[in-house]
Amino acid sequence: MIIAVDGPTASGKGTIAKALAAHFGLPHLDTGLLYRAVGRQVQLNGGDPDNPADALAACTFYDTLLDDDILRSEEVGGFASRVSVHPAVRQALYERQRAFATQPGGAVLDGRDIGTVIAPEAEVKLYITASVQERARRRWLEMTGREIDIPLAEIERDIVARDARDINRTDAPLRAATDALVIDTTHFGREAAVEAAIEAVEQMR
Ligand code: C5P
Repeated sequence: MIIAVDGPTASGKGTIAKALAAHFGLPHLDTGLLYRAVGRQVQLNGGDPDNPADALAACTFYDTLLDDDILRSEEVGGFASRVSVHPAVRQALYERQRAFATQPGGAVLDGRDIGTVIAPEAEVKLYITASVQERARRRWLEMTGREIDIPLAEIERDIVARDARDINRTDAPLRAATDALVIDTTHFGREAAVEAAIEAVEQMR
């Protein structure tokens, strides 16, 4: 069984994907980390994430980069969002994601284009979303918890900009697959969102 979990930033898709993987005993890949690793490598190279050649040159990142906590930072997230626009970057990361999705026994992948591009044949497709205000609030709480002082309005602006880049790019734009089940987590706590997702998978598998 392949479970595709797509959605915008801070929608809860990562939490849900992890919980589904644990519940159904499947391996999990957070595909955003791959784009973050490329973004980080561009940053380390002193390159320009908007330049396709600089972004492609960074695709030969070492796997050790994937374990680095710095990948989770807002700054690297911004780089990731910019490098992910380039078709050559998406192509360079395709095989790795495809191999993970099609491994025997199945897998859970979360990202932006799993149900539309990476595994369009997935038995289960979920599209997790929430209002911009709620996603900004969650990100702000998370950062405040890590003692990072950043105004809520700045986070909201960043989320709006990232959504726009993900939705408006020509290659693999962020959108729900036509056969995806949309779960809006705006008014859900973590437990309720995970429960709704488990129930959806039980029904779709
Ligand atoms: O999910 P996360 O915020 O870690 O992803 C970082 C960036 O990587 C996103 O803003 C998006 O632009 C890009 N991404 C993508 N396709 C994926 C996963 C992430 O374009 N499958």
